[in-house]
Amino acid sequence: CCCDRRTIMHLFLLLILQATAALGQIDPAHCRYALGMEDRRIKDDDITASSQWYETTGPQYARLNREEGDGAWCPEGQLEPSDSQYLQVDLGRLTFLTVVGTQGRYARNSGNEFARAYRLNYSRDGLLWKSWKNRLGNAVMEGNKNAYTSVINDLHPPIITRYVRLIPVTKLSTTVCMRVELYGCPWEDGLISYSAPEGQLMMPPGYPIASLNDSTYDGVHERRRLTDGVIGQDDFLVTRQYHVWPGYDYLGWRNDSLGTQGYVEMEFVFDRQRNFTSLKVHSNNMFSRGVKIFSSVSCWFKPRLIAGWEAESVAFKTVLDDRNPSARYVTVPLNRRTAKSIRCRFYFADVWMMFSEISFQSAVNASTSDPPDDGNTPILIGCLVTIILLLVIIIFLILWCQYVCKVLEKKSQRKETQEKQNKHLILLFPTACGGGYAEPDVTQCTPHQCFHSNAPHYAETDIVRLQGVTGSNMYAVPALTVDSLTRKDISAAEFPRQQLIFREKLGEGQFGEVHLCEAEGLPEFLGEGSPLPDRDGRSVLVAVKQLRADATSQARNDFLKEIKIMSRLNDPNIIRLLCVCVSSDPLCMVTEYMENGDLNMFLSQREIESTLSDLLHMSVQISSGMKYLASLNFVHRDLATRNCLLDRRLTIKIADFGMSRNLYSSDYYRIQGRAVLPIRWMAWESILLGKFTTASDVWAFGVTLWEIFTLCKEQPYSLLSDEQVIENTGEFFRNQGRQIFLYAPPLCPPSLFELMMRCWSRDIPDRPTFEGLYQALRPHVNQ
Ligand SMILES: *[C@@H]1O[C@H](CO)[C@@H](O)[C@H](O)[C@H]1NC(C)=O
Ligand SMILES: *[C@@H]1O[C@H](CO)[C@@H](O)[C@H](O)[C@H]1NC(C)=O
Ligand SMILES: *[C@@H]1O[C@H](CO)[C@@H](O)[C@H](O)[C@H]1NC(C)=O
Ligand SMILES: *[C@@H]1O[C@H](CO)[C@@H](O)[C@H](O)[C@H]1NC(C)=O
Ligand SMILES: *[C@@H]1O[C@H](CO)[C@@H](O)[C@H](O)[C@H]1NC(C)=O
Repeated sequence: CCCDRRTIMHLFLLLILQATAALGQIDPAHCRYALGMEDRRIKDDDITASSQWYETTGPQYARLNREEGDGAWCPEGQLEPSDSQYLQVDLGRLTFLTVVGTQGRYARNSGNEFARAYRLNYSRDGLLWKSWKNRLGNAVMEGNKNAYTSVINDLHPPIITRYVRLIPVTKLSTTVCMRVELYGCPWEDGLISYSAPEGQLMMPPGYPIASLNDSTYDGVHERRRLTDGVIGQDDFLVTRQYHVWPGYDYLGWRNDSLGTQGYVEMEFVFDRQRNFTSLKVHSNNMFSRGVKIFSSVSCWFKPRLIAGWEAESVAFKTVLDDRNPSARYVTVPLNRRTAKSIRCRFYFADVWMMFSEISFQSAVNASTSDPPDDGNTPILIGCLVTIILLLVIIIFLILWCQYVCKVLEKKSQRKETQEKQNKHLILLFPTACGGGYAEPDVTQCTPHQCFHSNAPHYAETDIVRLQGVTGSNMYAVPALTVDSLTRKDISAAEFPRQQLIFREKLGEGQFGEVHLCEAEGLPEFLGEGSPLPDRDGRSVLVAVKQLRADATSQARNDFLKEIKIMSRLNDPNIIRLLCVCVSSDPLCMVTEYMENGDLNMFLSQREIESTLSDLLHMSVQISSGMKYLASLNFVHRDLATRNCLLDRRLTIKIADFGMSRNLYSSDYYRIQGRAVLPIRWMAWESILLGKFTTASDVWAFGVTLWEIFTLCKEQPYSLLSDEQVIENTGEFFRNQGRQIFLYAPPLCPPSLFELMMRCWSRDIPDRPTFEGLYQALRPHVNQ
């Protein structure tokens, strides 16, 4: 049909999104504009420094990609490890700062000074300085490796500031020079600080502990959780960041922990007097876990800092929602009250209340000495009117299209089936399947698998199968047809359930859980000749996947199928199924577990002490395990360092419980609210066409290699949002040179990066096989 309804709905949503953006929430993924070092919007006078070497290396020359003066700012003399020299930039107004870019002194090939690392200090008033730290508490950022390439660092968390200091850091006495660009966007809401009761821990039985504190608290007067532009997900345990704890995106309180008042009180201080139109609170509403938006709120206003609270408050009752568990913005009208400071009490509607973001919409008081900001309101109204008009037109178009579609459908029914299918395809999927040229792969793009408006559409059953019943992914076996599985199909031995002693929960999925257990007497049970890698006296650590008793019969069948598949695998680099408990409920499968944890943890928690040959050795083992899987026509579908476990002798075993673990939830993209896909590791054809093959495992192997050689310090495509990763997949498909590849990791020899790039070939025949990869990697190890 000519105008696909979904495309139009997408447009519609886009407009609504843009409308909300216009109304004052900042999205860090889009707030990345250069703030004016390179293009000189930041004036020379606003760039200062603690010192400069010569007139010609003064702070005004610290502009990215420019070659004026002697080509950069250089502080005086040699920089010593104890020094704290700085370059200071005054942005002129409060700014939401998201990215910092640095470069060394190139000076048309005559300079070779750069800063290998630096720290950041920031200040809203130029007096009280704070040092920036990332979410894990590190203050030092990696800088340049040569004098010409610019290196950018995303600030997680971003900061709201007017003044910034870049402080080069060195381990040895050396000369440093820097050129800089700052990226972000203006911060309009004027909020300087807020105070709120400390967030709390949620420790429900059977769930991970959620730590709902203000973890980016950065000083006496400032907390940032609620103003960092990151809004929480519907499930508060799921986080947007990599390697943080469950509950990270929210600040939350329990109703009985704050005395008996039944409310949480917060106070907000602004840069100057403002007229407030509204307050928006992004709040969780997962009522099944006792979390709801607030039932009502009352706000008091103070026109000046040194004044009393005005007696008249603004009160607002929300409409509680017991149907839809989505997190949402609640808008509280503030009736254009004038204030410099606001105090609000949010009343509990349930046991828990959780906020991820608060923003204020205001106009600056016209009668203050600052020039009025009045120009904004008419523009805003104009925008809104335009948007509403567009929406009316779109609704009209939808109705019209539905009519035309019906007419066309009747006509086309007469045409040949094949032809109709093609047309359907081309018109329905303009982005993903575009072009319309006859590509063999394109014809496999069936409606339920393909993309509509940049979102993957898998059939529900595909998703469940992909996830496996315990939330782990399941190996796909092309030729395995299992209709009715019974006990006699399972070759693994039955282990006495009471000898499994629970240690901790490793993860969970839709129908089951994965536990870490001690298996008493397992070596004796398995008998001699079945070596257990990790043993500590008589007890052996094992991972136990367990199906919940209330699982559907479909899930039961899938679980037995998974056992059958697992019991066929026997390779030193693949995790082994040791035994099962299937004679009674709950069904369990017991696999090896390694005490050294997974490769991602192992590498990311280490400073650079792993040598190149260690890393290569790891890569060879993974390729060897995958070679084995490929020889059996097994497709793994979730190869990544998080799924590679290490035993004490650093032997790697490929496992598959990645998806069920909370720690890695940000590696998976949620579709339709519950399905998860490791999109950053997936080949384009897996994302676009739902095709999983050994060749798509090869792609994931390339990404895994990349992880290994970046020492898992970074998530793949960390600068892209999930949606951008999917867009990039479309570029891989279109192959017009606009696709973004992962960069070459600094530790990685060029020949190895070439190998990675071959894994990411668009066309499947161009990708190496695991046998080929193994042969290519192995010779390097013993050098
Ligand atoms: C950076 O901020 C810290 C406080 O967090 C302060 O101790 C230090 O002196 C500051 N350094 C510079 C160069 O401003
Ligand atoms: C918040 O909780 C996390 C995890 O429990 C902890 O690491 C962090 O230090 C806490 N932050 C504050 C400000 O208490
Ligand atoms: C506060 O929590 C208790 C349970 O801990 C609950 O019984 C009570 O209704 C809650 N109060 C409100 C206002 O929801
Ligand atoms: C602030 O609010 C007052 C009272 O409603 C109104 O008269 C005034 O025009 C407002 N000022 C601005 C700048 O919106
Ligand atoms: C701000 O606006 C209010 C109402 O419009 C006015 O009464 C007040 O004097 C203004 N404040 C200042 C500092 O001018």
